[in-house]
Amino acid sequence: MGETPLLQLNHLSVQYGGIQALHDVSLHVASGEIVTLIGANGAGKTSCLRAISGLIAPAQGSMQWMGQDLRNRDAAQRVRLGLAHSPEGRMVLAQQSVEDNLKLGSFVHRADKVGCQQSLDEVFQLFPRLRERRAQSAGTLSGGEQQMLAMGRALMARPKLLLLDEPSLGLAPLVVAEIFDRMRGMNAQGMALLLVEQNAQLALRLAQRAYVLESGRIVLEGKAQELLHDSRVKAAYLGA
Ligand SMILES: Nc1ncnc2c1ncn2[C@@H]1O[C@H](COP(=O)(O)OP(=O)(O)OP(=O)(O)O)[C@@H](O)[C@H]1O
Ligand SMILES: [Mg+2]
Repeated sequence: MGETPLLQLNHLSVQYGGIQALHDVSLHVASGEIVTLIGANGAGKTSCLRAISGLIAPAQGSMQWMGQDLRNRDAAQRVRLGLAHSPEGRMVLAQQSVEDNLKLGSFVHRADKVGCQQSLDEVFQLFPRLRERRAQSAGTLSGGEQQMLAMGRALMARPKLLLLDEPSLGLAPLVVAEIFDRMRGMNAQGMALLLVEQNAQLALRLAQRAYVLESGRIVLEGKAQELLHDSRVKAAYLGA
């Protein structure tokens, strides 16, 4: 298989009580790669990202980070290893300021004050609107700004791989274009992305590779360009 991937999932299953959300999911993300995971509502996309970041424990299977077993690493340790998660629904702390929300993202590096300040400057450079609103409470931001904040908070951890759950949800097309443009920029600087998106068209145009999840199973995988022209993908996810 060549080089060791950044992240490797082997035969992963996730269960909630009696509900099996993921069955036998194997996937990988290489260093510097953009991979997208597409699928209908309830397919298991969020569960997959939550298992990767350590928010839920898989029932079966294993995960490796740069060849190392992730099993005994909790969520904070995974952030320290270079895995950050921008969750579905953004989950910003509404009462806290933009700046305080961002600083939470660098919690694992808090001993490195200079590094944290530098990360903050970089996030403000990427999202100038957050700088303008740094003292504003996060709950008063627009939907698009909250999405930028959620991404910015994850970037504060200086990840090698950023997990993004539905970054475009509920946003106007111009804001979506801006968010996708920023993803391109982060990737150009070497960051790998694992992107979960309802907007399969946009996601497949951005990504190099893709996996399609149906009822918790991976049913298709390949180059994003090829899946964009696959008749099954077109029929189910591209509204064609
Ligand atoms: N905490 C939970 N307890 C019980 N069942 C859950 C829980 N979280 C998710 N599920 C179930 O697991 C399945 C997969 O859910 P998941 O949120 O991973 O899907 P998704 O692909 O992210 O969907 P969406 O596109 O709607 O965000 C669904 O059937 C969901 O009802
Ligand atoms: Mg989801």
